[in-house]
Amino acid sequence: MVDRNGWDADASVPAGPSHDPPASFVEQANVTEEAVYEAFETEWPDCWERAADLLSWEREYDTVLEADDAPFYEWFSGGKLNASYNCLDRHLEAGRKTHAAIRWEGKRGERETYTYQDLATAVNEFAAALLDLGVEEDDIVTLYLPMIPELPIAMLACARIGAPHSVVFAGLSADALATRMDAADSEFLVTCDGYYRRGDAFNQKSKADNALITLEQDVETVVVDRLGDDLPHVLSEREYDYEALVTDNRGETVEPVRRDAEDMLFLMYTSGTTGEPKGVVHTTGGYLAHVAWTSRAVLDVKPEDTYWCAADIGWITGHSYIVYGPLALGTTTIMYEGTPDYPDRDRLWEIVDRNAVDIFYTAPTAIRAFMKWGEEYPAKHDLSSLRLLGTVGEAISARPWNWYRDHIGGGETPIVDTWWQTETGAITVSTLPGVDEMKPGSAGPSLPGIDARVVDAEGDRVDPGETGYLIIARPWPGMARTLYDGDERYRSEYWSQFAEPENDRWWYFSGDAATVDEDGYITVMGRVDDVINVAGRRLSTMEIEGAITGVDGVVEAAVVGRSSEADGTAVCAYVSTEADCDPDGDLRGRIVESIESSIGPIAKPESVVFTPELPKTRSGKIMRRLLEDVANGNQLGDTSALRNPEIVGEIQTEVQTE
Ligand code: WTA
Repeated sequence: MVDRNGWDADASVPAGPSHDPPASFVEQANVTEEAVYEAFETEWPDCWERAADLLSWEREYDTVLEADDAPFYEWFSGGKLNASYNCLDRHLEAGRKTHAAIRWEGKRGERETYTYQDLATAVNEFAAALLDLGVEEDDIVTLYLPMIPELPIAMLACARIGAPHSVVFAGLSADALATRMDAADSEFLVTCDGYYRRGDAFNQKSKADNALITLEQDVETVVVDRLGDDLPHVLSEREYDYEALVTDNRGETVEPVRRDAEDMLFLMYTSGTTGEPKGVVHTTGGYLAHVAWTSRAVLDVKPEDTYWCAADIGWITGHSYIVYGPLALGTTTIMYEGTPDYPDRDRLWEIVDRNAVDIFYTAPTAIRAFMKWGEEYPAKHDLSSLRLLGTVGEAISARPWNWYRDHIGGGETPIVDTWWQTETGAITVSTLPGVDEMKPGSAGPSLPGIDARVVDAEGDRVDPGETGYLIIARPWPGMARTLYDGDERYRSEYWSQFAEPENDRWWYFSGDAATVDEDGYITVMGRVDDVINVAGRRLSTMEIEGAITGVDGVVEAAVVGRSSEADGTAVCAYVSTEADCDPDGDLRGRIVESIESSIGPIAKPESVVFTPELPKTRSGKIMRRLLEDVANGNQLGDTSALRNPEIVGEIQTEVQTE
């Protein structure tokens, strides 16, 4: 299933005023000097030593960047280090054993705190257990776990013994798990019996069992008992109980393996433009240096902070900014298993309040939901501990940006809108919150050392305000090194569109469209593959959506193409409205009017379908492809990865009766 990106470019809503970072924030920020941009420019690529200096190396690297075999770059070659050592042992050595590493908030209100010592102990014991099972360095271990502490423990245990992990988001289907394990030839799986979903016990192991049936390789499976008596399970051959394995290894310690900077730390499957997921390869040195540097410079993380990235570790955001970045810096990272509206819609704010969270990082889709639910939920809690807010995953338009700042940030907390991708490994475009002005609706400039540009099809920079392709014109430490399925696919997916090998021009193509303003601030429009061609004219679905979401009463919109005899493709809009808004003919008229006035009659939708919610993946992205299939009356694929699969039937009925 293709996980497409949603966005909410409220194009018709004026961006409103920009904001300087408040003095109280700047005073304490990790990075406050504007000169950092200049310094990274003049010292490039050696500037990235500052990121490498945030890590502890067992052997110093010989060179910062090796570019001989572009686009197969190497960062910090010759360096040796271990990611688990960097996230754990060195903090113990620094006398921070009793400092909280992970505060876990379970779905049933459970709370657990792992100090750095507790986490190190758990990681060592499970690393010993993995060795017992026969895991060797470079074996790929698949982790299919929900947001329970065993997930980061298993990741760090893998890192400790030099076995790359491949985390598969727990909400993905058996088929998705099988495809990934097959592609990675993974012979080890860590999963659980099940987990709680809105209070009910949900069976995860049966999905894992179904996946394994289809695999050719034998797989050793470790099962975490999350549900106890709520869902008894039996273990068969090649299946091991997590707790029993750990008990057998009580008190064991495992020396962290010396990994080469360029050795694989993990594999992360992500959707491509084709159906086959891409296995993105991240390395130990460059990745860890880049996530640590951006956690410090962009998210302003300090060791004494309580930091919360409300994402799922099953996606890249959770890898980089729940686990590796914050733990490398020795901070306290919150890990939340539940949903934002259970038991009530103030759940997140209750957690922020009780834990005195300093930094909160989430996705625009969540912010739009908070906005829809109403300001009374955050108002119930003291959120004054928050010093910085962040967003990631899709564009955030000015309206939700301002709402976030006003109602979560008390009207003054700075916001970083961070653009990056599974492939970039870490943040690449964002303001530096202690340096730069914030412009609601625009992510910001390239980070120091990053050269993100918006170019036309020929590679020339577009004029301010013009839409173009977002490329990165220079390598960066956190970049993917290849795709597990092969160097050729890596080259063709990212380095064939704008790279000119004959001119030694190596530009990475992100697959996104964007605009840039006079100050170099980049506004990301969304994937270029979401362009529709109506009567020979190229229309941006995003632009139409922007026109729709500018209409009062509308919360979100998704626009897709429907095959049409007359125009080749016709515009079909799905629209969710505010709770108290009646989606009547009047609203439909206003939507059409808004589209016609902001884009032109050519973009007039053939149909407008109202729905209480849009179908979304668990990572919060609107499933445009699915909506396209519904619009075209196509057979629907697997919808199991959706957050709200029940909505699909409702939408189908609505479309049919339209
Ligand atoms: C989109 C998530 C606008 C973009 C870290 C990108 C964004 C894709 C932003 C990567 C942002 C991410 N503004 N769009 N701040 N951040 N995107 O791989 O289309 O799950 O290409 O990585 O999300 O999604 P991925």
